[in-house]
Amino acid sequence: MKAFYALLLTLLLPLVNGQVYHWGPCPDPSVQLNFDIQKYLGRWFEIQKLPTSFEKGKCIDANFSVRTDGSIKVTNSEFRRGKVKSIEGTAVVQDLRQPAKMGISFSYFTPYSTYWILYTDYVNSALVYSCTDVLRLFHVDFAWILGRARILPVATINSGKIMFMSNNIDVSKMIATDQKGCDKEQ
Ligand SMILES: *[C@@H]1O[C@H](CO)[C@@H](O)[C@H](O)[C@H]1NC(C)=O
Repeated sequence: MKAFYALLLTLLLPLVNGQVYHWGPCPDPSVQLNFDIQKYLGRWFEIQKLPTSFEKGKCIDANFSVRTDGSIKVTNSEFRRGKVKSIEGTAVVQDLRQPAKMGISFSYFTPYSTYWILYTDYVNSALVYSCTDVLRLFHVDFAWILGRARILPVATINSGKIMFMSNNIDVSKMIATDQKGCDKEQ
């Protein structure tokens, strides 16, 4: 059976190339209690992340705001090949009893991917986790340490990593996002 899974994984691997995957279904980490989206609104800078195939630029940030219809708009921006590129998405809370477990979609055609706030103090930092389950055989992890400023103290980054690890999320492959020279270029 293991050989079959290995074969299947080899076939699926191009899908997750360059990303972090692990055997088994997505974990179920604890999330921020009484999460308040109103306090989470505004701009968050990406400080560190698990590598993803879709974010390659620098100066990456996300701006959460409320549209006139009450929905939550998320604008992700990055600086890449000399230009600021932005993409607009929508965040939803799927279960009001679990407001920290949001879903985000960046296109009408793509399903909502999980966007779970494991921790935030709203004013300095946030820990975000997303997981994609592939046939419950393996899962692809995404994790971000976000800051309200472009730089976070090393101690905040380290305690964030410890919190991910205590939820069985492997963040050993996390990489820092380049946030240098951004305010001049934008
Ligand atoms: C964030 O989005 C809001 C609403 O669209 C906008 O008014 C604000 O200027 C944006 N902030 C940044 C830093 O882009």
